[in-house]
Amino acid sequence: MNIIDAMKERRSVRTFDGNGINKEQIAQLEKAIDESASPFGGKLTILLRKFNLKDGYKPSTYGMIKGAEDFFLLGIGSDEASSITAGYRFEQVVLKAWQLGLGTCWIAATFKGSDFDRGVEWPEGEELKVICPVGKAEKPSMKEKLTRLTLGSKNRKPFNSLFFYKDFKTAVPENDQFHEALEMLRIAPSSTNSQPWRALVDGDTVHFYYQQKSPASVLDTGIGICHFHETEKFYGHDGSFSKITGVPSPPENWKYLVSYTRTK
Ligand SMILES: Cc1cc2nc3c(=O)[nH]c(=O)nc-3n(C[C@H](O)[C@H](O)[C@H](O)COP(=O)(O)O)c2cc1C
Repeated sequence: MNIIDAMKERRSVRTFDGNGINKEQIAQLEKAIDESASPFGGKLTILLRKFNLKDGYKPSTYGMIKGAEDFFLLGIGSDEASSITAGYRFEQVVLKAWQLGLGTCWIAATFKGSDFDRGVEWPEGEELKVICPVGKAEKPSMKEKLTRLTLGSKNRKPFNSLFFYKDFKTAVPENDQFHEALEMLRIAPSSTNSQPWRALVDGDTVHFYYQQKSPASVLDTGIGICHFHETEKFYGHDGSFSKITGVPSPPENWKYLVSYTRTK
């Protein structure tokens, strides 16, 4: 499965088969962690840990997650760069897991952190902010179905309400060079499906903005930018990210994050 199909097919998985993942899968996921990279800097540590629930170890109450033994734990710094990097880098691992036939669910809100990282010494300035179960998906439980329904997880905001061309009124033409990469960004996962990302296309440059919908909005936008950049690379393009001074002032409740300029 190529990365475009992985982005299109991925969904959050909250019900797992209860068997845990095997040594080979662990090795493949550890490799994906090692190979994940970010141009945004910041501080991020990704761990993969097995919790032996059969021995009575309960990592903590994590609500609707069922049948998972294996969890990624993310130690994330407190600055903006760390948040973008967490979204951008860990989504690479999430997509790799999907390509390996494994489901995941980013979790940033509904867990009590303490027990999950008992005994973990995070590097200075990092703390556990995200956990993510990983394993073979089982038919969704009623609870998971209800969660998806409540969050409207199947739905995404219309393309033309998120992305604009040259000004903040004009739609991005369908034949624009960035149309597909932005469409892949549009279908990315986000906390409570809030889709805080916004973008303005101007020639070979795309300016990324976000709306502050939750404490995870910058991280969410990092996830979206991961989808955007993976699409660029899949089609043989690449570019660089930078903060540009004097970018077009956005509508009132948008905040500027970073710009991408295609170089190839
Ligand atoms: C940063 C982040 C945090 C999330 N936190 C939770 C969570 O605490 N509990 C949960 O059930 N789902 C959580 N999700 C999953 C989202 O609800 C899900 O991605 C969104 O509804 C879209 O659905 P999909 O991933 O199936 O496409 C989170 C997703 C992201 C990206």
